[in-house]
Amino acid sequence: MTWTKIMPARPVVAVAGATGAVGAEFLRVLHDLDFPASEVRALASARSAGKKLPFDGCGDVPAGDLTVQEMTPKSFEGVDIALFSCGASVSKQLREAVVRAGAVMIDNSSAFRMDADVPLVVPEVNPGDIAWHSGVIANPNCSTIQMVVALKPLYDLARITRVVVSTYQAASGAGAPAMAELYDQTREFLDGKADDELTVEAFQHRIAFNCIPHIDKFLDDRSTKEEWKMVVETKKIMGDERIRVAATCVRVPVLRCHGEAVNVEFADEVSVEAARAALAAAPGVTLLDDPAENAYPMPGLLAGTNDTYVGRIRRDDTVDHGLALWVVADQIRKGAALNAVQIAQLLLP
Ligand SMILES: NC(=O)c1ccc[n+]([C@@H]2O[C@H](COP(=O)([O-])OP(=O)(O)OC[C@H]3O[C@@H](n4cnc5c(N)ncnc54)[C@H](OP(=O)(O)O)[C@@H]3O)[C@@H](O)[C@H]2O)c1
Repeated sequence: MTWTKIMPARPVVAVAGATGAVGAEFLRVLHDLDFPASEVRALASARSAGKKLPFDGCGDVPAGDLTVQEMTPKSFEGVDIALFSCGASVSKQLREAVVRAGAVMIDNSSAFRMDADVPLVVPEVNPGDIAWHSGVIANPNCSTIQMVVALKPLYDLARITRVVVSTYQAASGAGAPAMAELYDQTREFLDGKADDELTVEAFQHRIAFNCIPHIDKFLDDRSTKEEWKMVVETKKIMGDERIRVAATCVRVPVLRCHGEAVNVEFADEVSVEAARAALAAAPGVTLLDDPAENAYPMPGLLAGTNDTYVGRIRRDDTVDHGLALWVVADQIRKGAALNAVQIAQLLLP
């Protein structure tokens, strides 16, 4: 059953998980896009109730601190759009209350992404899919979002048959405490602390001066769930079950912005020149690809940006019709908060 609610022009917006890494970015993006909210509610766990969060304002909401409220099923009364970033179990617990209150839930967790009645939307790729939601729209995994933004203009040149991707994922992809752990561990490591004296909580191993080829849990086939997400979500968003995706996901000691080395195989020839022209013209993409000037996207320099940056575009001669590229985006913005608010913009009358 599709949703029949008529979205008001000045919706009430709830930010669920407002104290987290993505939640803080939601507040920044709502301001940056001047989202036409009539009210913004900051929700989090009981731990954060009463905390003040700085907000620069948007729509009818003036700049000033927002007071965090404890999130309960009643929090969604009068809400039109609920932006969720509290993890999958919390989203599952609250889904019914949100939908019953008449709000549309835009969820950043993996809870509902592959459900048949939940569209998985990247506005540059499949904006039309919001038409069939029934109260919940899922924001894809951050690594998948930036990859499909880069793949879509290439797919429009020739059908993509296979993608091989290796990710270089920032510590903040695991939340605000993980980013703090990278800072603290780096300091401790430089202070000469031994490995067994370091605080290791956010990741399975030390992240400072290390790379960890393990994101989310291991599955029976020895891949990780993060890798599986890139495989299945790419097919759903691109609307093509035939695309084969092989992913290796790696956590690296970068604070913010994921990098991805992507090898793409097409059904027909796509020249480097045609790919560059298509990417340069694509919405949400910045082409940064000038080897003569040492110009290519770098995660350490792109925090806080909105676009998906693509560079190092070259032929992959190991397959018949292949290209290789390097893709970087701020995974807290385009990979989470920005993409979700762009979905909310699509819901406006
Ligand atoms: N970080 C990223 O780059 C990224 C990208 C894409 C998607 N995501 C997804 O976004 C979600 C949040 O990630 P994050 O990185 O922002 O994590 P985070 O920094 O750890 O923040 C988690 C947020 O959830 C809130 N929360 C936890 N349990 C709650 C409960 N029972 N009731 C109400 N609020 C609760 C926390 O509130 P308290 O402060 O009160 O504990 C906090 O605001 C996850 O599903 C994650 O997979 C993250």
